Amino acid sequence: MTQDFEAIIKERRSANKFIENIAISESELEEIFSLVKFAPSAFNLQHAHYVTVTDGDLKEQLYEAANKQYKVKTASGVIAVLGSTEAHLKARELNEGLVHLGVLSQQEADMMAEDTIRFYEERGETFKRDEAIRNASLSAMQFMLAAKAKGWDTCPMIGFDPDKVRAILNIPDKYIPVMLITIGKQDASSLRPRGYRKPVREFVTHQRF
Ligand SMILES: Cc1cc2nc3c(=O)[nH]c(=O)nc-3n(C[C@H](O)[C@H](O)[C@H](O)COP(=O)(O)O)c2cc1C
Repeated sequence: MTQDFEAIIKERRSANKFIENIAISESELEEIFSLVKFAPSAFNLQHAHYVTVTDGDLKEQLYEAANKQYKVKTASGVIAVLGSTEAHLKARELNEGLVHLGVLSQQEADMMAEDTIRFYEERGETFKRDEAIRNASLSAMQFMLAAKAKGWDTCPMIGFDPDKVRAILNIPDKYIPVMLITIGKQDASSLRPRGYRKPVREFVTHQRF
């Protein structure tokens, strides 16, 4: 691990309040997402989908849906992290590139896609939902670290009404709203000392319980 990466991990904090009237552009968001895309996902299905909100009126509506958490108002943007419960249905097209490159034969790609689809269908709706949340959460963590590396602060948020967020953003049924991430430049004066962290021995069991 390079020193820079260690610093990014340690300097990422959940912003309490953002400096107002700082805009984040689509190209700045794209730079972050160009790193987010390298996050791992089960079967490389890339279950995560993001809705970026910088529009003032929409942001105001999200503020209401997020229990009026003030940081939503002051953030440069609010990012809705969604997880798809139907990502496995795209297994075939996600492997098309490897077929074109000659890495996989069409027959191998077809078999892999069928296996993946069966894996999800056999396990059912709860598994699909777990997978949506699991994979989107890993992607969201990558978003927050990539944002920090690009000079932005974030706060992950579960304090919102998912039905209201779904209605405001027109989110199709196949997506689970996993979390909101507010992004902006944190107002350092409002940052509290970091919360207690358990020592490693308290949250790691080597070998078995
Ligand atoms: C899944 C998740 C949901 C969270 N929801 C909220 C939230 O709704 N509002 C908020 O202010 N902070 C929220 N937080 C931020 C946590 O309070 C914060 O990560 C924790 O206190 C540790 O602080 P740190 O991130 O600065 O290290 C959430 C964090 C996570 C991981």
